[in-house]
Amino acid sequence: AIVSAEKFVQAARDNGYAIGGFNTNNLEWTQAILRAAEAKKTPVLIQTSMGAAKYMGGYKMCKLLIETLVESMGITVPVAIHLDHGHFDDALECIEVGYSSLMFDGSHLPIEENLKLAEEVIAKAHAKGISVECEVGSIGGEEDGIVGEGELAPIDDAVAMAKLGVDFLAAGIGNIHGPYPENWKGLHIDHLEKLNKALVEAMGHNVPIVLHGGSGIPDDQIREAIANGVAKVNVNTECQLAFAAATRKFVNEFDANEAEYMKKKLFDPRKFLKPGFDAITASVEERIDVFGSANKA
Ligand code: G3H
Ligand code: ZN
Repeated sequence: AIVSAEKFVQAARDNGYAIGGFNTNNLEWTQAILRAAEAKKTPVLIQTSMGAAKYMGGYKMCKLLIETLVESMGITVPVAIHLDHGHFDDALECIEVGYSSLMFDGSHLPIEENLKLAEEVIAKAHAKGISVECEVGSIGGEEDGIVGEGELAPIDDAVAMAKLGVDFLAAGIGNIHGPYPENWKGLHIDHLEKLNKALVEAMGHNVPIVLHGGSGIPDDQIREAIANGVAKVNVNTECQLAFAAATRKFVNEFDANEAEYMKKKLFDPRKFLKPGFDAITASVEERIDVFGSANKA
């Protein structure tokens, strides 16, 4: 069923595991993620970046597509339709269109401005039962034209954002979007620990923290992050790499055997793209095991 995400993310935070937020790009990509989530019996967020939504035909299209697939595939696990790294106007559009969850990313703005807009988004979204993620500090790398420096999230900013009633909070702890560079220093778990303690103290309850740039972080660091308050991990690049690697392998194989390519009609997109999409399902399932959310639906 389509649901907002605050309940299952809070349950993950309270019980020491994390839910995957997986980005989608098209119909088959969405099917691949849903298939994995259903097989693993985990709640899941299917997320569209602003760019992916544009590519897919707009937010309404994305909402209807995900919703329709959940129904036609007989998906029984909780699924949130989530906007990833949304600007203010995009967040408002997703509230209109009927996303069940959204991220307002004002991390590139001065903190006062970020908080002011976040407050407005939270009020409007919560009035419709939609869960909200906001971000303080910035995440390294580039996503949809938003370039983050990868600075550590200031603790005061995180507490101020939590006090607005955000459902889960993205905070930079040395994480980066896209593939990690050779000389990456790893997650700043010490900073995360301080951040988590400050949030619990200020709010009197556990605040779920979101780890962006989930692709390529060593599993032991992901587990350590979960042990210190992370309850949602965002994954995009990893699925793209898995898709591309499987597709390239497939192409290389039939390149060497043109006769078989024609005989088996491998040019049919349903066959041509299958190895890639199967690879996404496998990589999502594997991530879910690391995040510990299997059998929590
Ligand atoms: O918001 C999306 C995630 O932070 C994706 O990061 O592409 O490095 O997995 P990633
Ligand atoms: Zn992100």
